[in-house]
Amino acid sequence: MEQEKIAKGNRVVIAVDGPAGAGKGAVCRAVASQLQLAYLETGAIYRALGLLALREGLQEDAAVVARATSMPFTYRSMGNGQFAAYLAEEEVTAALRAEAIGQSASRIAAIPAVRQALLAFQRHYGGVQHVILDGRDVGTIVWPDADLKIFLTASLQERAERRVRELQETGKNANFTEIYAAMAERDQRDAGRSAAPLKPAADAVLVDTTTLTLAESIDRVLHLIKNTLNQAGFTCRESLVESR
Ligand code: DC
Repeated sequence: MEQEKIAKGNRVVIAVDGPAGAGKGAVCRAVASQLQLAYLETGAIYRALGLLALREGLQEDAAVVARATSMPFTYRSMGNGQFAAYLAEEEVTAALRAEAIGQSASRIAAIPAVRQALLAFQRHYGGVQHVILDGRDVGTIVWPDADLKIFLTASLQERAERRVRELQETGKNANFTEIYAAMAERDQRDAGRSAAPLKPAADAVLVDTTTLTLAESIDRVLHLIKNTLNQAGFTCRESLVESR
């Protein structure tokens, strides 16, 4: 993963940050596919590195940093609102969702040199296309000059309940107390770390989804992004953005 900084150019960059389980992924996938924007779930990069760290038994920070710079990670649009994460030619999208991988990602994400090593990949992503990136520090660190910053959040109780429903729908065991505690711990680690802590950018628009359905959350975000694209001189048709 390369090191140099790139300019934003004429493209529109949208940063969506927030805690785990706020619905960032589902909202961004829907909006990106509806408006045909490039999309990167930055958490997938940290999760992929977390997966490699567990698989390869990387203990020392230096070993994790070295792996970050040589990690063959790609993120691909599969059409129909689906996106997939790859390590070389191995599809790891489903493997990355495991709770153990989320916790591993959260730990390695607190290492400043790891964050630095993954920065250029995030800034290059999408090339010249308009792009949405979701994560924890997109609006504060990765793209402080983003055209629109959204902080998407929901109460811890609601986020834990959503996670339980999600697991139950896929036939998996879900213990609310354990999920709530794990989420609280991850929130604490992501917001409490000194390197790029989770916090809204000063100029972020707050979208609280606690009492919103997924469709309502998508609508709010879609509305904000369409306004930003219009202000930047692009028209939004049914399902694509054109240059005016
Ligand atoms: O969004 P997620 O749950 O997939 O992210 C997994 C972990 O990666 C999260 O606990 C913190 C870290 N992360 C980060 O530090 N910065 C980002 N931009 C995205 C994720």
